[in-house]
Amino acid sequence: MNRHLVLAVTGASGTAYALRLGQAMLSAGMHVHLLVSEAARMVSLREIGVELPPATADENTWRQFLETGLTSGPAASWGFQNCSPNAEGELSVHSLRNYSAGIASGSFLTGGMVICPCSMGTLSSIACGASTNLIQRAADVHLKERRPLVLVPRETPLSSIALDNMTKLSQAGATVLPAMPGFYHAPTCLADLVDFVVARICDHLGVPHQLMKRWGDDA
Ligand SMILES: Cc1cc2nc3c(=O)[nH]c(=O)nc-3n(C[C@H](O)[C@H](O)[C@H](O)COP(=O)(O)O)c2cc1C
Repeated sequence: MNRHLVLAVTGASGTAYALRLGQAMLSAGMHVHLLVSEAARMVSLREIGVELPPATADENTWRQFLETGLTSGPAASWGFQNCSPNAEGELSVHSLRNYSAGIASGSFLTGGMVICPCSMGTLSSIACGASTNLIQRAADVHLKERRPLVLVPRETPLSSIALDNMTKLSQAGATVLPAMPGFYHAPTCLADLVDFVVARICDHLGVPHQLMKRWGDDA
């Protein structure tokens, strides 16, 4: 499997999903290409009470943030376990204006891309091929190259515009995987709900994980 995976974080609710996913990808030894929108910073501050590292921050600062973002502030009581990714994974952080980054081109091979959480704004831009920042461009590249693109929208209710955009993207090859945790695995804390969604994303990207027991494993 190609170890290069793109993780884009946009301004929909659900910062915790993104942090947990980053941890899982690094723990599985992936090379994570991280992209973060301005709106994602606003949402993060509100949801987990911690400022995301500035756009100029280096990889080590981001790595440390991924480890501590869910164990400090309000999220500290959400029940997350094993938040320290092993050292094998690599992290590259890209500016949204850097159209010279490898991931802006189809010739740079990746194992796939996920946008988590995915705002309706970013979703609509990708659906019409706008490519106005590196998140949208990288998503467009994954679609045209027929590589896995997982979109994790979070909005409710959904307008017919949003539904049309999702249909269009699904038909173009994307996997629309809404942040809709199930409750049949008997969750006992918020972390269980977050891990439910993150586990499904990892499965779709081929990232090995032990975030939760699989249905049927007890049999
Ligand atoms: C606290 C907060 C929560 C938000 N939640 C959502 C959401 O769940 N879904 C969504 O589509 N937009 C949400 N938004 C609005 C987006 O952040 C906004 O549309 C933004 O332009 C998205 O930009 P981006 O796609 O570049 O990140 C939220 C904004 C804030 C400040």
